[in-house]
Amino acid sequence: MSVFNDYANYYDLLYQNKDYKSESEFILNLINKYAPEAKGLLNLGCGTGAHDIFFAKYGLDVDGVDLSADMLKMAENRKSQLNPSKDGKLNYNKADVRSFELNKKFDLITTLFHVVSYQTTKEDLDKMFQRVTSHINSGGVFIFDCWYGPCVINEKPEIRVKTAENDQYVLIRKATPTLDLDKDTVNVHYDLEITDKETSEKSFTTEDHLMRFIFPDEIENLLDKYGYKVLCNAEWMTDKEPDSSTWGVYWVVKKI
Ligand SMILES: C[S@@+](CC[C@H](N)C(=O)[O-])C[C@H]1O[C@@H](n2cnc3c(N)ncnc32)[C@H](O)[C@@H]1O
Repeated sequence: MSVFNDYANYYDLLYQNKDYKSESEFILNLINKYAPEAKGLLNLGCGTGAHDIFFAKYGLDVDGVDLSADMLKMAENRKSQLNPSKDGKLNYNKADVRSFELNKKFDLITTLFHVVSYQTTKEDLDKMFQRVTSHINSGGVFIFDCWYGPCVINEKPEIRVKTAENDQYVLIRKATPTLDLDKDTVNVHYDLEITDKETSEKSFTTEDHLMRFIFPDEIENLLDKYGYKVLCNAEWMTDKEPDSSTWGVYWVVKKI
């Protein structure tokens, strides 16, 4: 998969208004409720480590896995924000969530911001669940989110333009989605215009991100197959019951 290459360099700027602090607090509340004994966690598709830094500052040791060397480079840079005498550790691994092997098991595994939806076939998602299962202790908790199928087919993704800037750059990103109802996928074509504020020079990059929206029956089958019990299933960040207007849904499940 060749996504999150060039785009990775601008990821944190594009998502500078995404509230990673509140999201991390939301996850930490779930951890306190469902896995209070956990000392560490495995975060799959950790990206630039924007959640991990809050988890480590809370005292958890975090192992991150991601396929993109560019995203992981930025996650590595965050390590300098840690206080070694009181914070948890961050440890990053470049690997595929469908095939990784870390030779250790965890009481807690997370995968956040639609990494599940980046597994673009049922077979790929099955492989991811297989790897999660081989890395989770009995009684361990797995927290994941995804694009929710009933909403995507009801509301349908639209063209969106996003702008972001810092001292150095102005970014304009146009996202053009193409829906494939046979495969339950959306190809999101990103056109990114980058303006260097000092020189006024413009550069352009494009990336295609294929994403899959997931229906509850596929998740239920996977949970059944790999032996998990649902502890919680609700809308991401609001805890409302999912319906056909809910884009992002999360599950907290326990390995039986
Ligand atoms: C939308 S980003 C989310 C990153 C991070 N979790 C966050 O919340 O900012 C999706 C991430 O999943 C990673 N990813 C997608 N498919 C993957 C795979 N099969 N194996 C490992 N990483 C993958 C991408 O490289 C990217 O960093």
